[in-house]
Amino acid sequence: MAPVDPHSFTDSGHPLTTHVHLSLYFDFPSSTIHSSALLSLSSPHSGPFSLDTRSLSLLSVLDPQTRNPLPFSLSDPDPIKGQNLVVSLSGHSSVLVVYSTTPASSALQWLSPPQTFNKTFPFVFTQCQSIHARAVFPCQDTPAARIRYSARINVPRQLSAVMSARHADRRPPVAGEGAGLPCGDALWCAEGRVVEEFVMEQPIPPYLFAFAVGELGFRDVGPRTRVYSEAAPAVLDAAAAEFAGTEDMIRQGERLFGDYEWERFDLLVLPPSFPYGGMENPRMVFLTPTVIKGDASGAQVVAHELAHSWTGNLITNKTNEHFWLNEGFTTYAERRIVEVVQGEERAALNIGIGWRGLNEEMERFSDNMEFTKLKTKQEGVDPDDVYSQVPYEKGFQFLWRIEREVGRPAFDEFLKKYIATFKFKSIDTEMFLEFLKTNIPGIENKVDLVLWTEGTGIPPDAFEPISNIYTKIVTLANEFKAGRMPAEDEVADWQGQEWELYLENLPKSVEASQILALDARYRLSESKDYEVKVAFLQLAISSGCSQYHGEVERTLKEVGRMKYLRPLYTALVQGNGRQEEKIFAKRVFAEARDCYHPIAQGVVESIFSKHM
Ligand code: BES
Ligand code: ZN
Repeated sequence: MAPVDPHSFTDSGHPLTTHVHLSLYFDFPSSTIHSSALLSLSSPHSGPFSLDTRSLSLLSVLDPQTRNPLPFSLSDPDPIKGQNLVVSLSGHSSVLVVYSTTPASSALQWLSPPQTFNKTFPFVFTQCQSIHARAVFPCQDTPAARIRYSARINVPRQLSAVMSARHADRRPPVAGEGAGLPCGDALWCAEGRVVEEFVMEQPIPPYLFAFAVGELGFRDVGPRTRVYSEAAPAVLDAAAAEFAGTEDMIRQGERLFGDYEWERFDLLVLPPSFPYGGMENPRMVFLTPTVIKGDASGAQVVAHELAHSWTGNLITNKTNEHFWLNEGFTTYAERRIVEVVQGEERAALNIGIGWRGLNEEMERFSDNMEFTKLKTKQEGVDPDDVYSQVPYEKGFQFLWRIEREVGRPAFDEFLKKYIATFKFKSIDTEMFLEFLKTNIPGIENKVDLVLWTEGTGIPPDAFEPISNIYTKIVTLANEFKAGRMPAEDEVADWQGQEWELYLENLPKSVEASQILALDARYRLSESKDYEVKVAFLQLAISSGCSQYHGEVERTLKEVGRMKYLRPLYTALVQGNGRQEEKIFAKRVFAEARDCYHPIAQGVVESIFSKHM
């Protein structure tokens, strides 16, 4: 038949998987998981059946009823999609795959004890969005195929596990459970091992599958929220203080978008190598520790990941070509929550930072305008390579435009109905547009829906926000170009986001002496806030100030969040000449690489190959 998603081998003629049961034995010394995956299909099937896999080592594929082997083949690896596991079925409605992950799995980061905060135990965590779930278990790794799952996780007893699922039990291993696994029953039941069980009752796209295992501790911060992190009191206390307002945000979310459907909203603060700011894994959001800095920005990231509970997790993009349905809606919803809990000025500032970011992406994609569209063609494209602000900020602008047209009360009602109509479904841009036109008749005569969703660039009716702080900051940034530095009293009440906006509005390259003077006055290169520090260092590099190489190197070795790695490595290697910078970047990456998540390693490598 035909593929349903350019990033998956899933075939439209095959039944979809409805449930997966996983048994996972974690072997930290070898950075592998010895596993089995029992897949249940929506209907019995005969003939070839395709599953996505990447860097898995397959032991056998069995009929779960009889335990008889089923014939299978594995395609050569595709650099983006991985390997097509084709199993030959004869009326089967379930399949059992026995396999091990390999240290090359792109979804997993294994940290050795010295790489953790407490330096005593190892740590491992997943990052499956957009197409890495297939590197943890064989699956139809397309968001069009929603699955329920259960998991039995076997770990050393000093460690514990969390998942994007309900925790059901922690108990000793039972004889026989490990029998069919690559590790065998003796290891499964060995002294010092413990089993944790999880159940996910709601159907989710595979990219929302998640776990983390380590020496974890927690603090309760609300009736349905617990903050987890490595069991270090300093980290836990800071996290608990930072996220104390979470319940308030959940209530605001419910008021705006309808019931919170996932029961718990727990947070996991990961080690600094976590490659994103946040990841909306259901019931257990994953967060970078760099958001803990005691100002409003931590809450902003939580507001974003919380908003995904409605937009993204309840209603999901059918393929990554419609990714804006996830991130554009979520950015809009995030700012509605921020507006209530932090005020209109703060929300306007966020819109301003986003507007700046959107304009910069237009430059980045000036030779590849496809990725300035909302709906994009991604055949042969790795989603990690084209990740950008466009789906977030252009998507936000599109929805904000519709809101301005119909007025807020009508738009709020529309949003609630949209969520109630499509919850637990995966949809595409066309389905959204149909629903929009049905529920807001005549909207297509007021807003150019085709230009917004299929056109390149920024439509003329997009809107730069108006607010006092925003306008003042942009004006000050323009004055810097003429040589005026902001005075102490003008910046006295600036937080990180104000500085971030200021720095991002400065020209890409200014006189080195001006950079040095700015830093001498405001010590931006030493900021504890990575947003500020990185924005400053980026400017310093592109203005040719090599005295900051030490600080750049420290930063690149401290954190693995791609939002920081991307601009710093790009600033170092882009442009002609600058051999010294390129050599510096290569050396730092060679030394820091092992501390980065495999996805981040791939992204830095692709920056290098583009510019060197
Ligand atoms: N779902 C994204 C992160 C993501 C996107 C991971 C694509 C993998 C592929 C998450 O919700 C997100 O947008 N995180 C932002 C947070 C910010 C917008 C507040 C981030 O990580 O910077
Ligand atoms: Zn998001």
